[in-house]
Amino acid sequence: MVYFIGAGPGDVDLITVKGRKLLQEADVVVYAGSLVSTEHLNFCKEDVEFYDSSSMNLDEITQVIYNAYKKGKKVVRLHTGDPTIYGAILEQMRELDKLNIPYEVVPGVSSFTASCARIKREFTVPDVTQTVILTRISGRTYVPEEEDLEGLAAHKSSMAIFLSVHDIDRVVEKLKRGYKDENVPCAVVYKATWQDEKVIIGTLKDIAEKVKEKNIKKTAQILVGYFLDDCGTYSKLYDKKFSHEFRDAL
Ligand SMILES: C[S@@+](CC[C@H](N)C(=O)[O-])C[C@H]1O[C@@H](n2cnc3c(N)ncnc32)[C@H](O)[C@@H]1O
Repeated sequence: MVYFIGAGPGDVDLITVKGRKLLQEADVVVYAGSLVSTEHLNFCKEDVEFYDSSSMNLDEITQVIYNAYKKGKKVVRLHTGDPTIYGAILEQMRELDKLNIPYEVVPGVSSFTASCARIKREFTVPDVTQTVILTRISGRTYVPEEEDLEGLAAHKSSMAIFLSVHDIDRVVEKLKRGYKDENVPCAVVYKATWQDEKVIIGTLKDIAEKVKEKNIKKTAQILVGYFLDDCGTYSKLYDKKFSHEFRDAL
């Protein structure tokens, strides 16, 4: 069996219990070395075989998994955050399907929720927004035109922008045009939950300058939206005058 596991954003204790257990039992671990903390590997058995996928192509990764599977070994494919978000796991699963190799996906804590936790905010705020957009800016990787940042920002919902901090000026320009407001709150969280985490709080007016001052060029979440201000609204869930399936109104 092959397990695609989300390692979480950085802090090794943010892997799931299931993920950690499978990692402890693995014979072969293929991990995304550019972002996964190597501290995770300390939990593995002594004779485990490690492969850092950061310098491997899809064929090489598939070959390693195939060889291990043929020998009856338990394989863990360790991805950063949650593997279903910018994890490029679909193509890996497709290759395994072709080879009739069974696999399971074990979710993880994504860096976007970890970043929101670090700044102690909630993406979905009553009367402010009930929608979260996860996206990235186009660059060497194509993003469909309909998903251009400017158009997405026009929804004025909460946004978590991955893989884009290197192009912060262009991100901010597009967001300003979309939101039609320079004062939208914005936070940049670099390496959320790692020892060298950095958090920058600002607005679309000053965030680019602040990011450059701190020399942040990668591994950051750009969180944008009015959810970052605490507007003081309350949910219905705990409203004493609001009844629901589990509680009567006062
Ligand atoms: C290839 S994507 C992988 C995302 C990952 N699957 C997840 O769920 O977080 C890499 C991007 O995720 C974001 N990222 C990953 N780890 C991060 C962290 N600890 N703090 C902030 N952003 C992070 C950055 O935007 C980075 O460029």
